[in-house]
Amino acid sequence: MSDLEKIEADVLAAVQATGTEKDLEEVRVGALGKKGSISELMKGLGKMTPEERKEMGPALNGLKTRVGDAIAARKAELHEAALEERLATEKVDVTLPVRQTPIEQGRIHPLTQTMDEITAIFCDLGFAVEEGPDIETDYYNFEALNFPEGHPAREMHDTFYFHEREDGTRPLLRTHTSPVQVRTMEKSEPPFRFIAPGRTFRCDSDQTHTPQFHQVEGLVVDRDTHMGHLKWTLEEFLRAYFETEGVEIRFRPSFFPFTEPSMEVDVRCARLGNEIRIGEGDDWLEILGCGMVHPNVLKSANIDPDEFQGFAFGVGIDRLAMLKYGIPDLRAFFETDLRWLRHYGFAALDVPTLAGGLSS
Ligand code: DAH
Repeated sequence: MSDLEKIEADVLAAVQATGTEKDLEEVRVGALGKKGSISELMKGLGKMTPEERKEMGPALNGLKTRVGDAIAARKAELHEAALEERLATEKVDVTLPVRQTPIEQGRIHPLTQTMDEITAIFCDLGFAVEEGPDIETDYYNFEALNFPEGHPAREMHDTFYFHEREDGTRPLLRTHTSPVQVRTMEKSEPPFRFIAPGRTFRCDSDQTHTPQFHQVEGLVVDRDTHMGHLKWTLEEFLRAYFETEGVEIRFRPSFFPFTEPSMEVDVRCARLGNEIRIGEGDDWLEILGCGMVHPNVLKSANIDPDEFQGFAFGVGIDRLAMLKYGIPDLRAFFETDLRWLRHYGFAALDVPTLAGGLSS
């Protein structure tokens, strides 16, 4: 085999052996680039005698052309193969569901959902929404609500106290949302019509009690507000919340220092094993406390009880959420278990409204 034939065979073999366009480019530069093996031979032509050049010229040109053609053909092959591979690996299955965005994956906690539902219902009834601090004074949590010092009803609230301050006062974690009644009434003039949802705290923990829980307070004060208004409001609320017209309630006399008379409200229900169905059956389930605002509470807020009267109610939000959404253990609300939240949570973009549906 002549030198030229050997060079040609080697270069063509190298071209065939390339697996990528990048490798091929290296082989091309090695043969036909400025300092490539074939280019170097071409440079030698100038130093040859005319006879030699006559023979070597066409031979080298032929070699250059064949190698060039082989490279171009291999390049087309590699390009095609690369394209095929991309098509195979980047194949899009248009029948797959669209991947959820973070806002679609995230879940609204059932408690937040319940508070949003309650707020939607009362706002529709013309109630404002008020808030108060989690850390309260003895005055707002008890005193102004007609729990005098030493009153036994104070002991029913397993209160978390902070250390005594220098001035002798002892802040506490509010044991109910009722302090918002006086705080809000102090700020302006009657009439009042508001709810106050929020966190509450008591030193208690079992399947149905947690140290932190949630209540929504309601207060209506006007010149001629009476118990009929209270009953209608609670019925309206419970029917809207449980999304059934079948809700039936009954009042039982009770005692709260800040209301007179005081009542507890039960809803009719059916108990089927572990399940409780609201609005059917002939059992009763206690659901909230309420009453007519005690004159002393109005006086705490500088309102004349001879001119104004009102009703108040307090509902456990956690309890309402458990009942409506069939959640058996209250403690799970506070465990931040993602699997639980995925199961019981709500889509972030489904905002509860009365017109659009509360929980659908
Ligand atoms: N604050 C009471 C509690 O936590 C609940 C309550 C009962 C609130 C009657 C009220 C009411 O406004 O009228 O046990």
